[in-house]
Amino acid sequence: MSAVKTVSETNEVGLLLIHRGKVRDVYQVNDKQLLLVATDRISAFDCVMPNAIPRKGAILTQLSAFWFERLKNLTENHLITTVFDAMPEIVRLTEEFRGRSSLVKKTKVFPVECVVRGYLEGSGWKDYRATGKVCGHNLPPELRQGEKLPQPIFTPATKAQTGHDENITETEFTNLVGTNVAEKLKSLSLKIYQEASEYALTRGIIIADAKFEFGTDDSGNILLIDEVLTPDSSRFWSAETYMPGKSQESFDKQFVRDYLETLDWNKQPPAPELPPEIVEATTARYLDAYRILTGKEL
Ligand SMILES: Nc1ncnc2c1ncn2[C@@H]1O[C@H](COP(=O)(O)OP(=O)(O)OP(=O)(O)O)[C@@H](O)[C@H]1O
Ligand SMILES: [Mg+2]
Repeated sequence: MSAVKTVSETNEVGLLLIHRGKVRDVYQVNDKQLLLVATDRISAFDCVMPNAIPRKGAILTQLSAFWFERLKNLTENHLITTVFDAMPEIVRLTEEFRGRSSLVKKTKVFPVECVVRGYLEGSGWKDYRATGKVCGHNLPPELRQGEKLPQPIFTPATKAQTGHDENITETEFTNLVGTNVAEKLKSLSLKIYQEASEYALTRGIIIADAKFEFGTDDSGNILLIDEVLTPDSSRFWSAETYMPGKSQESFDKQFVRDYLETLDWNKQPPAPELPPEIVEATTARYLDAYRILTGKEL
């Protein structure tokens, strides 16, 4: 593979940087539009790695765009374009945004993460082991780690400013956004998960869970926003190797995690440098996910 220039951090003087997440830099383009820039940063165990993963930002951006298009009959969304040459001039001045950026409608974001779980993993599994329930949902006894749930469940969380998002009950969720909106966000989230996970399964990928965010535009319409159904916001497992009763291989970061587990590292920053073969394998894995899900090469 020829060397691809990576971007670990963007710094654009012409646009106002309003947020820097673990992976994405968010700029204000004007009153009505934002630019979400997916960098090539990668995090594992909640820690950003020193290396960038070539093409990762572009892959995540194009995968979100694929889903927005595919789901557009279910929900309106915020995406205006990911085509760099179609973006406002002020954006086009910065070549490093090319391919990795989404120009989106700026919305008023609902302060909740709409999580749908079809399988028992992560904080859901933790909750189940402790209480036999997941976020108040009664479940059959003796489910194993990674097991498919009888039906997908909605398990909202707050958007924590720092640290980990916290699971909330549906009552708390309703109190945060109001009854009408709560019902809409829940039913939209479940429908989107259902549609996407059925499709993904036909391609050999299990979407174990997914996190959605929604916001409203000036006219009060509810839009699906943020990134959607990417390996950073969902758990993707290979249907072929899926076997409940243990933790499943994550589709994207397995090489990174496995490598880090071989080290004597306490999982606190600063994270250790990744060797080139791990970086390369990780790019290949992200490209696989994109190709398998979309049926296209990037
Ligand atoms: N259309 C939109 N209108 C307004 N805000 C949006 C829109 N789409 C996404 N956002 C916001 O942009 C921000 C993107 O941040 P990002 O996800 O990169 O970092 P984070 O959520 O703070 O942290 P993490 O890196 O752990 O995900 C989120 O706060 C998200 O709610
Ligand atoms: Mg986020």
